[in-house]
Amino acid sequence: MTTDDSAPFRVGLLGHGTVGSAVAELLPDRADAIAHVTGLRPEISGVLTRSRGDFDEILANSDLIVEVMGGTDTARDHVVRALRAGKHVVTANKQLLAEHGEELWGLARENRVQLRFEAAVAGVVPVIRVLQESLTGQHVERLHGIVNGTTNYILTQMAATGASYESALADAQQLGYAESDPTDDVTGKDAAAKMAILARLAFDTPVHLSDVPYEGIEHLTGEDIAYARDLGLSLRLIGSAERLDGKLAVRVHPAFLYAGHPLASVDGSFNAVTIESPAITEITLSGPGAGGSQTATAVIGDVISAMIPPAQTPPTQHRLGFVDDVVSSFYLHVEVADRPGVLAQIAQVLGLQGVSVKSVVQKGTRKGSAPGEPGQSRLVLVVHPVLESRFYGAVQLIASKDFVTATPRAIRVIDEEFGA
Ligand code: HSE
Repeated sequence: MTTDDSAPFRVGLLGHGTVGSAVAELLPDRADAIAHVTGLRPEISGVLTRSRGDFDEILANSDLIVEVMGGTDTARDHVVRALRAGKHVVTANKQLLAEHGEELWGLARENRVQLRFEAAVAGVVPVIRVLQESLTGQHVERLHGIVNGTTNYILTQMAATGASYESALADAQQLGYAESDPTDDVTGKDAAAKMAILARLAFDTPVHLSDVPYEGIEHLTGEDIAYARDLGLSLRLIGSAERLDGKLAVRVHPAFLYAGHPLASVDGSFNAVTIESPAITEITLSGPGAGGSQTATAVIGDVISAMIPPAQTPPTQHRLGFVDDVVSSFYLHVEVADRPGVLAQIAQVLGLQGVSVKSVVQKGTRKGSAPGEPGQSRLVLVVHPVLESRFYGAVQLIASKDFVTATPRAIRVIDEEFGA
């Protein structure tokens, strides 16, 4: 077929921010190539921004709606109306799917249209396709992911250049990685929404954003990163989703990774997801996870897939419960008065709680100002894997001791035995 006799495929674009403007630029640019492959020529039938465009008119004139406006109110309304009107929808909106995914996937099935969302998780890295297509029918045991480019950029800049948190965040915003309000990035909420979507696909069970506890990077300091370097560890914001005793644990938190871990060398705004399944051992997919043209490329890939007749996904049969407590290894940083018996008392609390110490480093940080007055010391411990409730119970007891001079800081460590 020549490109000249290609039928038009009308794409209505909702949103004209970093991703929307990149879609508006890239789609016409690639239209010939897409027409050559699919026999349909994509054209932008209308653009809705905050100040221009009419949704009803765009809907009436489109075969497919691209939703890259963000937010969960207007975006949900427009996606629901598009699906009900029998239009395919491509969205990059992770919060929308993590909060209303079941409703929207249900509507897509009822109306026999496609709802595609590769760009919602890990930018252009094709992890949704791999879970939905390549690994369909496989038993996935565990996922680990670096799924937020902004925080990965901030942490690697702080480690590599000693940049402050604030200046690294400003750079990430400038480069177009961050959300319009970067709070979702740095608190871990953006990553939690992405992990909810990945877990939903990997384990074929509904996972809502509220099922995913998350912790961000705002409280991390340059000191934590410097210690990590000394210990041969890299600090990353990690999402994990795993089966434990017939239930699920899905969470997001900062974690130290040993150098051999497949995610330890993922730098800058790159994202990566490791999928473990008995049939395949593990695969790691990585690439640019944020940025206008990268995310727009994933959107356009979905537009092309939607031009092909849809395969209907049956509704999920499973509904798995969620685990309350999981086992982790931890790094613990405690500021103490440097006097006899302090280390012994900390060791005793940890021992009584069943927490086993793997390594400990003590540094004197300040001498006493008068003879006989205790100085200040810093203890940095790494503990063996333990139930988190036990560990945090021990940290609470340690924090209540009179020799502890600042709130202890704890960060999870991902086991060096990857896949163990
Ligand atoms: N703000 C997101 C990130 C963009 O930094 O990863 C992609 O979802």
